Amino acid sequence: MKASPDRIIIFDTTLRDGEQSPGASMDVHEKVLVAKQLEILGVDKIEAGFPVSSPGDFDAVQAVAGEVHKPIVIGLCRTREDDIHTAWNAVKHAARPGLHTFIATSDIHLQYKLRMSKDEVLASVRNSVGICHELSPSVEFSAEDATRSDWDFLVDVFSAAIEAGADTINVPDTVGYTNPHEFYNLVSYLRKNVSGIENVTVSVHCHNDLGLATSNSLSAVQAGARQIECTINGIGERAGNTSLEEAVMIFNVRKDLYNLYTGIDTTQIYPTSRLVSRITGIPVQPNKAIVGANAFAHEAGIHQDGYLKERSTYEIMTPEAVGIGKSHLVLGKHSGKHALGKRLEFLGYHLSEQEILKVFNRFKEISDRKKEIYDADIEAIVLEEIYRVPDKYELKHINVNSGTVAVPTATVQLVVDNETILEAGFGNGPVDALYKTIIRMTGFNAELKRFSVSSITGGTDAQGEVTVELMDRDMVSTGQGSDPDILVAAAKALINAMNRMEFLKTKRLTDTPHL
Ligand code: KIV
Ligand code: ZN
Repeated sequence: MKASPDRIIIFDTTLRDGEQSPGASMDVHEKVLVAKQLEILGVDKIEAGFPVSSPGDFDAVQAVAGEVHKPIVIGLCRTREDDIHTAWNAVKHAARPGLHTFIATSDIHLQYKLRMSKDEVLASVRNSVGICHELSPSVEFSAEDATRSDWDFLVDVFSAAIEAGADTINVPDTVGYTNPHEFYNLVSYLRKNVSGIENVTVSVHCHNDLGLATSNSLSAVQAGARQIECTINGIGERAGNTSLEEAVMIFNVRKDLYNLYTGIDTTQIYPTSRLVSRITGIPVQPNKAIVGANAFAHEAGIHQDGYLKERSTYEIMTPEAVGIGKSHLVLGKHSGKHALGKRLEFLGYHLSEQEILKVFNRFKEISDRKKEIYDADIEAIVLEEIYRVPDKYELKHINVNSGTVAVPTATVQLVVDNETILEAGFGNGPVDALYKTIIRMTGFNAELKRFSVSSITGGTDAQGEVTVELMDRDMVSTGQGSDPDILVAAAKALINAMNRMEFLKTKRLTDTPHL
């Protein structure tokens, strides 16, 4: 796909680089759900995973390939032949399959990681891109750590990749090292010197270690790049990647400056951001541009006054433009299954009749306790009832007593591997009593790194949402739970994180390749 001069191709890597964020591991159902939402959002390409990294990731990429129709579904592979064939087997049944192969090109990586000479790297690029080209209608090549590589070596590598059949060459700032000025010069240099570059799309992939990922991507676009690799909420390895919502809204708000456009339906940005945050358990910081809780909040009196007189005094884009306003329709106790089904569809959840019924039953249960049910409540129900990792641990009941004089005690009933167990214990507070009891009765061994509680919507009857992060050696898993009772939400979140950790253990292979 060669971009037209004023069209920016959005390559979403939430499911691959985004999934490399600590604790963000997604199972097959979760990846498919996010991929379907990315399709509704209008991304051009979805990098669904790194199929050789584990059988679980292979299955997830294959499932995404089967469910997504419009965007190109891409599997990542190193330049090794077995990687390429595994990636191809995962994506080949997609309506529009693609391969993305990469090898590092910086001296540091060649010397210490690959232990290869420049000639060997060049040969590997020719061979791997050639194989990809025979297999796949869409081939991207990336020079990992490009921004710390010798520019003339990059010219040779990219020229070889184009000659071997790559239709997209990607310039990654793998460690978030460059700055906008330097990156502009690098992309300009490549556009001037790489042979055949006028026939391919120039792509950029920036990391945010110095907080410059979006600025660097923009600079590259000004130098002629026409594909941006990015993730929802900017999640990704270490400090993350260029955030999709920032890149897209810059072109949208500053049409006057760039005169460039993307295929994104901006009103789907906020629902997608929420979905990714809920599925990965990675919260969005309140002051995050575009999708943070405070992104459209006007606090200062002077600002409020100006805004109320004329929105444009302090607002450069409307919340509705990114889908914030329209996601707040309220359902209640008397809403029927049909209304709920319609709302689910609007929110991007395409569920079977049986699944809708499951969501409806839980919806009814909650609407007995809570007057108004918001979209965020519905999302929480869907994620808990439908998109769960296969459960080793299942929560049946809890009963917690605490107060100013009582010793906090918890009674918990769980099903562990189909066996029902019941135990009681006490602790320093109700959550401590609950967690100590669950940990003791399951013998689960992991450190609790994070415990946070927030309310999904406003009001004292709001559902509480608890997020926990567990760590076991180098494995991190996050879990979320929601319920109008925050102790029930806390128990659900812990059980969810424990189940995700079990899933991670089965997913991990001893020889998992690292990027
Ligand atoms: O950051 C990076 O270099 C990558 C490549 C695989 C493109 O993620
Ligand atoms: Zn990356």
